[in-house]
Amino acid sequence: MRNVSSLLAFYLAFLSCNQTTEDNTAPEPDRTWWKEAIVYQLYPRSFKDTDGDGVGDLKGIIDELDYIKSLGVTAVWLNPIYGSPNADNGYDVSDYRAIMAEFGTMADFDRMLEGMHQRGIKLVMDIVVNHSSDQHPWFRASRSSRTSPYRDYYHWWPAEKGKPPYRYSLFDPSGDAWKYDSITDAYYLHYFSFQQPDLKWENPELRREVYDIMRFWAEKGVDGFRLDAFQFAAKDTTYPAFPAGYEKDFIQYYAMQPGLHEYLQEMNREVLSRYQVMSVSEGAGRNFEDAHALVDADRHELNMAYAFEGVDIPQYEGYALDSMKAVFGRWDAEFAHDGWLSIFLANHDQARMVSRWGNDNPAFRNASASLLNTFILSMRGTPYCYYGDELGMTNIDFDSISQYRDIAALNSYQKARSEGADMDDFMKRLNFSSRDNGRTPMQWTAAPRAGFTSGTPWLPVNDNHTELNVARQDSTEGSVLNHFRRLTQLRRDHLELVYGAYDLVDAGSPQVYAYTRTLGEDRLLVLLNFGDAEVVPTLPAAIVVGKQLIDNYPAQTAGTMRLKPWQAVIYRLE
Ligand code: NOJ
Repeated sequence: MRNVSSLLAFYLAFLSCNQTTEDNTAPEPDRTWWKEAIVYQLYPRSFKDTDGDGVGDLKGIIDELDYIKSLGVTAVWLNPIYGSPNADNGYDVSDYRAIMAEFGTMADFDRMLEGMHQRGIKLVMDIVVNHSSDQHPWFRASRSSRTSPYRDYYHWWPAEKGKPPYRYSLFDPSGDAWKYDSITDAYYLHYFSFQQPDLKWENPELRREVYDIMRFWAEKGVDGFRLDAFQFAAKDTTYPAFPAGYEKDFIQYYAMQPGLHEYLQEMNREVLSRYQVMSVSEGAGRNFEDAHALVDADRHELNMAYAFEGVDIPQYEGYALDSMKAVFGRWDAEFAHDGWLSIFLANHDQARMVSRWGNDNPAFRNASASLLNTFILSMRGTPYCYYGDELGMTNIDFDSISQYRDIAALNSYQKARSEGADMDDFMKRLNFSSRDNGRTPMQWTAAPRAGFTSGTPWLPVNDNHTELNVARQDSTEGSVLNHFRRLTQLRRDHLELVYGAYDLVDAGSPQVYAYTRTLGEDRLLVLLNFGDAEVVPTLPAAIVVGKQLIDNYPAQTAGTMRLKPWQAVIYRLE
């Protein structure tokens, strides 16, 4: 078996003689840290509380830096920690240069960043500038008078022109993205909640302010930015009417509007290119062409796309493995040569990975969580692992709307009620898909409140913390946690897993997802059984498996080609 340095030597030799090879053996032309990074997405509100207020904080993250390091991840994406009234848990920023009081102070931030860097972990900040909070001083000034110097930082429609053309809001209980404001007798635009007015990127003053904010954080030494909802930032400020029913496919009307690429190129010139920072777009536009235009190196915009087509596959009704293979395969093929992708099955806007993609029944939970982690960590693209998924944390099973905290859940409940929807059905679907499922406190121990807080947690702790927690898994051989650590080690040791060509094997199987990853002469085979029953994969005769590199079942099953329920194995190929 080649080790990493011999692989590298092969790779450099390849580059220097510039030989041509078949597509599926072509190595990536440029190595960068963010392609090789393993990202841990950390939702600060739910990670660790040190002051007993029931809300996670930066000191809690500092306390757990050794844990994060022990996972073998190399970067953290932190959800927003800026000053915010928390209408949308920090995605409504009222002060872009401050730390949210509940999370701590700037001194805590500096210590946290230093602690990460000391451990070789990079920090990616969430930057939320499609919209601000309605409590931001810019918006307060903007709404105060039609002649305010900040008026043009936001989108306004004077009421004397009548009602503005309908705009769909993702979060508003009425569905309307225009809110009437009596102070100046005008409507303002909010694609998300009314507490999140959209910033007007068409105004160069606003753009200068945002770049200045980004430079502030880059000067502090952060290593990257994740651009929240940025694909929606450019708007036609004549606000033309859209066709009736457009909201069913609103991305076509909201994403990637004229001007967006100019803003990104300007951001790249003004900020991104001046620092050693990576950038990831949330969303990838309307089609592959958009996605490439966002991240191909010659565009000088962003580094990495974060496309939703994959994560959107599992629905309340279930999903077919075929769709997963088709979607991930299509994206991989599209990005095999230019551009770069994020690989993820969960984030803070989704219910828990194992409950959506795996089987969270205790009989299959651990195996299926480990299988899903194997998938994320063995695909081409930068893997993003969401906090708690390294343990197999599950959905929480709320049954009353009073238990939910998420603005999207609460507002969609109101909307459904006012539209006379079948509320039993609505609640069942919410129970499956709510974002709160993915935001419950980190399960550190079996103690009351899972060792997350000494106070009352802002969102209930999952009852299963008594047996599903870090302390227990840390000391259990073969636990989801320890398997996750082995997977990250494997990825760090095998450049094939980062850069290697991806080829589907056994395409027709409804239960087995099998693929190879090839870099030069090195080939790995990933075998994943997405089912509760045993299965024998059908492999082409040309595939001759060699050493087994990792298995989510104990050693005695190694070498057999019959896969146990949710078994995930990686082999070296001869
Ligand atoms: C996308 C974020 O991921 C989500 O959590 C947030 O609610 C919206 N953008 C609005 O900022």
